[in-house]
Amino acid sequence: TGPELAEAGRLLAAARRPVVFTGAGMSAESGVPTFRDAQTGLWQRYDPQELATPAAFRADPALVWGWYEARRHGVRRARPNPGHRAVAAIRARCPETVVITQNVDDLHERGGVPAPVRLHGSLFAPRCSACARPAPIPEDAAAPGDDTPPGNAAAPDGMPEPHDGPLTPPACAGCGAPVRPGVVWFGEALPSAALDAAVEAAAGCDLLLTVGTSALVHPAAEIPLVAARLGAPVVQVNPVPTPLDAICAVNLRGPAGEVLPALVRAAWPDADAG
Ligand code: APR
Repeated sequence: TGPELAEAGRLLAAARRPVVFTGAGMSAESGVPTFRDAQTGLWQRYDPQELATPAAFRADPALVWGWYEARRHGVRRARPNPGHRAVAAIRARCPETVVITQNVDDLHERGGVPAPVRLHGSLFAPRCSACARPAPIPEDAAAPGDDTPPGNAAAPDGMPEPHDGPLTPPACAGCGAPVRPGVVWFGEALPSAALDAAVEAAAGCDLLLTVGTSALVHPAAEIPLVAARLGAPVVQVNPVPTPLDAICAVNLRGPAGEVLPALVRAAWPDADAG
C-alpha cells in the first residue's frame, strides 16, 4: 500500500498528540481470537448473551467464570506481536501518545505500553460481584509454580472451551460473594473514568489511529468519531472495510502486525519499529 502508507506516515510524523485506538484485531496475530471474524470469532462460536452479561453470570457463575479463566490462560500463553511493539515505538517517539483499548488482554502492557486507557476492563482484574473488592488472580493465589491450567484450559487454537468440570468462582475475601471477571459485559456501563479519559484524549488529539476494530460496539465506537468531528485525521488499520471507512483520511488494508511496523518506519525511517 505504497501511496496510502506514505500519506499515513506523513500524518503520523506530523502528529504531536496521537491517539491509538485498538480492538481485538490488534491481538489476532498473537493467537488471541477476535469476536466477529468469520469462523474464528468468539461470537461465531458462543452466544454473548450466555457468557458476557450480568444475567449470564447470575444464572451460572461457574460457566461464565470458567470461560473467562480459559480466555485468560490463552492470553497468558500468547505473546505481544510486532503490532504491539510498533504502538510502543509510536509512544517512544511521541510521549503525548494516548493508547485506548477495547481489549481485555494484557498484550499492550507486555508489548511496552504500560497503562493503556481500558474501556472494557481487563481479564487480569477480577473483583467481587457484590462489594467490588479487587480479588487476586487465581494463579497468584494458588501455590507458587502451580501452573496447571484449570480443567477448562483453552483449546490449542486458543479457542476457550467452557469448563468441563466445575470451576466455581472464588469467594470474595471480604464479603464471601462470588468473584467476577473484571471486564465490562453487555448492558453494563463503561468505567466512567476510562470513558472520560478516552473522550478527552480523542477530542484533543491531532491524529487518531484506529487498529483492529469492527467499530460496532458503542460507546467505544464513538471514540474515532469524536476525533474526526474535531478535525483530527483518522487512519485505519484493518484487513477489511468497517463503518469507520467513511471518516478515514487513510485506510491501510492489512494486518496490524505487518502494517504498524511499516507505518512507524514510513513516519520515522530511523525508528526501531518494534
Ligand atoms: N490486524 C488488524 N485487524 C484485524 C486483524 C489483524 N491481524 N484480524 C482481524 N482484524 C479486524 C477484523 O477485520 C475486525 O474488523 O479486527 C476487527 C475485530 O473486530 P471484533 O472481533 O468485533 O472486535 P472489536 O472491534 O474489538 O469488538 C469490540 O465487542 O464483544 C465486544 O467487548 C467486546 O471489546 C469488544 C467489542
